[in-house]
Amino acid sequence: MTNLDLFAEPAPADGAGHARMLALHGLLHQYAHQYYVLDAPSVPDAEYDRLFQELQALEAAHPEWVTADSPTQRIGGKPLEQFAAVHHAEPMLSIRTETDTEASGAQAFDARVRKELGLTEADPPVEYVAEPKFDGLAMNLRYEQGVLVQAATRGDGETGEDVTQNIRTIGQVPLRITGQIPSVLEVRGEVYMRRDDFEALNEKQREKGEKTFVNPRNAAAGAVRQLDSGIAAQRPLSFFAYGVGEVTSAEQGGPAFSTHFGLLQTLKSWGFPVAEQVTTAHGAPELIAYHQRIGASRDQLPYDIDGVVYKVNSLVLQQQLGFVTREPRWAVAHKYPAQEQVTRVLGIDVQVGRTGKLTPVARLDPVFVGGTTVSNATLHNLFELRRKGVRVGDMAIVRRAGDVIPEVVGVVNSGPRASYVQNFRMPRTCPVCGSAVVREKAEVNHRCTGGLFCSAQRKQAILHFAQRRAVEVEGLGDKLVDQLVDGGVVNTLPDLYRLGLSALAALDRMADKSAQNLLQALEQSKQTTLPRFLFGLGIRHVGEATAKALARHFGSLDAIMDATAEQLLEVADIGPIVAESIRTFFDQPHNREVVEQLRACGVTWAEGEPAAQTPKPLAGKTFVITGTLPTLGRDAAKDLLEAAGAKVAGSVSKKTDYVLAGTEAGSKLAKALELGVAVIDEAAMLALLQESN
Ligand code: IVH
Repeated sequence: MTNLDLFAEPAPADGAGHARMLALHGLLHQYAHQYYVLDAPSVPDAEYDRLFQELQALEAAHPEWVTADSPTQRIGGKPLEQFAAVHHAEPMLSIRTETDTEASGAQAFDARVRKELGLTEADPPVEYVAEPKFDGLAMNLRYEQGVLVQAATRGDGETGEDVTQNIRTIGQVPLRITGQIPSVLEVRGEVYMRRDDFEALNEKQREKGEKTFVNPRNAAAGAVRQLDSGIAAQRPLSFFAYGVGEVTSAEQGGPAFSTHFGLLQTLKSWGFPVAEQVTTAHGAPELIAYHQRIGASRDQLPYDIDGVVYKVNSLVLQQQLGFVTREPRWAVAHKYPAQEQVTRVLGIDVQVGRTGKLTPVARLDPVFVGGTTVSNATLHNLFELRRKGVRVGDMAIVRRAGDVIPEVVGVVNSGPRASYVQNFRMPRTCPVCGSAVVREKAEVNHRCTGGLFCSAQRKQAILHFAQRRAVEVEGLGDKLVDQLVDGGVVNTLPDLYRLGLSALAALDRMADKSAQNLLQALEQSKQTTLPRFLFGLGIRHVGEATAKALARHFGSLDAIMDATAEQLLEVADIGPIVAESIRTFFDQPHNREVVEQLRACGVTWAEGEPAAQTPKPLAGKTFVITGTLPTLGRDAAKDLLEAAGAKVAGSVSKKTDYVLAGTEAGSKLAKALELGVAVIDEAAMLALLQESN
């Protein structure tokens, strides 16, 4: 023992455990600050949760160690100083999380509820409402006399931030509601960013060489807390309602709700978006079925969810169940596998795409993320790779959500790196064909100049043409294309249709039967549509939507090939860059040659007026659209109706068959009611389209 030890604080008996606890305090405080205050998280939620739980476990074992400043003693985020503080009339609660992603999570919740309510096995199943757990940020919208007067974040549950200006920019949030509404109404729900809006936003940031957002939730949080509401308005946000805060009581003339489901339906009728997946479920078996069903369709949803939420439907029973600290006993969140995980970067490869773009791709220690095992993730381009500071040997945060390719969104700041870690350089020549690699001024992407000389580009062009959304050649996958191109059997698209049984049967591992199947699939693919064919050609900037617009506008391929840039610009949604790209493509003699040869091989489609062949179930019906629709833009709704043969008029008259009304519908709605014209909402319109199909 040294002298100094005599003056030291008495060390806790479990010194290592105590030191670990202090280390966890530091880490969790740092991560929470980055997450809540800076909107720039440095670790995935799963990692934060893991450390948080480790701390909780330590504190449970040593209650005497718990201090007031422990991260476990604080709920939610500190309000930002720039925004005015809002004291919530009703506290904004959080939900207990069932981390067990298996069926037993739902069973445990149902069992707890039944026990608390004193139910026995003889009693019928409890009725629940099952909802997606949206991955955005909680918002309280306060309406007085039907007017949105305040929007506030959750903050610590008691006090949030006044973000009214920014929330007003969200089209789906009604600024005013009409009908039988209570004088005070607080609607609670989630502000989120759709995945496609998020991808488009990041794509724009990437093109400008600016910082991209880690995930839709962070992009949404950033937009909501943007001090400049002009910038907030450029970040497309959406909203789903899932509950209420303060509401004028029934005694004072407010609504008398008896179930949570009824409450949500009423909110919907007032114009608030409520997710179509919200449903009632009875007992644990139906909760489990819901968890599985939503889990299976998770990738197809247009937004991120991190689980589902179960709530006891009866409001009387909810009251009876009450709360433990800040969490209601009547609700639980049942999670899904995280969409972000941490894993090691084993190497960085370069892949060559259809247009010659060189993409750095991280080779990863395989990791289970978003429901599948991922071993490669895109780094997009050199500049993004550098901005994120990714190096071989780092622990990287990988995100996989929806059908989007997995990507590296950042690295865990792991302190100084080991000296063996090597930095990455973009190759000067194409790793596939050896042609020069160039990067044009102000461009972020490196490209191989080999064109169709580059086998990687040829392979990608063939795969693009053969994919399901283009002409669809079933069974023509990347392994087969590799063999066909590497063996010199297929060099251009028309070569596909010149394949014979003998050439195919000569390939590695190709049985007679599979060769025949492929030939048959090729034969079938010849009968296609103009939009599919156009999209399949792989013209830069011509995606499916543009291909459809071109086909609709011009009617025939020859008209498109011969259109001038000015004529192309007349097509809705085609701008100068796209027009230029189409022109350049068809100005190249070899591209025209490919088209002619494909036609000569028998690839055909119906020309003229493609729209004429689709059924017109709503022909003769006149619609008027008014107000803001919950999910569709007005143009999109108009397109859908017109495609089904309906006429969309600007004003309501006796000849109007339906008024499609969203929130903030004004005089047109009044007129419709006066004339007795049928008024339908977006869901009813979609149902009409479905029925008549
Ligand atoms: S209900 C008393 N329903 O999850 C329950 N919350 O800890 C209050 N969330 O940040 C919330 N989807 O924003 C509820 N369908 C849903 C939800 C949901 C997402 C979020 C909420 C809050 C957290 C609750």
